[in-house]
Amino acid sequence: MALLEVDDVIVRFGGVTAVNHASFTAEPGRITGLIGPNGAGKTTCFNVITGLQKPTSGRVRYRDRDVTGWPVHKRAGHGIGRTFQRLEAFGSLTVRDNVRVARDIHGGPLAWVRASGRSSLEIDVLLDRVGIAEYADERADSIPTGTARLLELARALACDPRLLLLDEPSSGLDETETDAFGALLRDLASEGVAILMVEHDMDLVMSVCEEIHVLDFGQIISSGTPAEIRDDSAVQRAYLGYSADDPHEAANGLGDHTSEMEAIPS
Ligand SMILES: Nc1ncnc2c1ncn2[C@@H]1O[C@H](COP(=O)(O)OP(=O)(O)O)[C@@H](O)[C@H]1O
Ligand SMILES: [Mg+2]
Repeated sequence: MALLEVDDVIVRFGGVTAVNHASFTAEPGRITGLIGPNGAGKTTCFNVITGLQKPTSGRVRYRDRDVTGWPVHKRAGHGIGRTFQRLEAFGSLTVRDNVRVARDIHGGPLAWVRASGRSSLEIDVLLDRVGIAEYADERADSIPTGTARLLELARALACDPRLLLLDEPSSGLDETETDAFGALLRDLASEGVAILMVEHDMDLVMSVCEEIHVLDFGQIISSGTPAEIRDDSAVQRAYLGYSADDPHEAANGLGDHTSEMEAIPS
């Protein structure tokens, strides 16, 4: 059984079906991508997994248990960590203290720096790992957006997650930072973390994800390897408004909600 199983989840907000019969899994050691146009239901899926949103129907299973009814803090305590699309750090605290607070809420020391013994050292090791050590003493509201994204990641890692959900983690990162970020994700996965990532940077998604699910209007319209996703005409239609197979279908309406999406690189 997979570490995480999202099983036939539906979420309705009044008349809007934000998630429509979505099923997918996440596995230790694997980076799984969840992509799709704006409004497709990606963040809502994350909210269902972390407990912020109760599904209209369907189940969430984690480590062989049905956690659908579990509150957010209980899921977090069992190793479900996340970053938010909207940055959530405490602006008036320093970068280091933001990570310290996250770690203190979690409790125990981090498995991978437990040997170090000192908690402040542990936090600095973590800041160094995500590449923001030089900002440790800056207030979180004074750092660049890209750095704030990495701080979000450091805060999530401070809780020692087994399952890490990343909601558009690379927005605000420049190319060099994005490359370093991709390498860090691969490292984390190689240590056994299950990573589920919502991301608009298709180069990053295609280079780090082993498996990708494509959401469109709440439904998973395609699942597969990066190569399979790139070649899928249904995905091309959802992203571009037409597929290479039937270019005369251009502007069939599906393209209307793709304004922020980049073309899928080949
Ligand atoms: N709390 C909410 N109340 C009402 N509608 C919502 C709420 N959250 C999301 N939605 C709607 O659900 C759909 C999916 O949103 P979201 O999951 O944020 O999409 P994505 O993250 O893929 O851009 C959108 O139509 C959005 O407007
Ligand atoms: Mg979103």
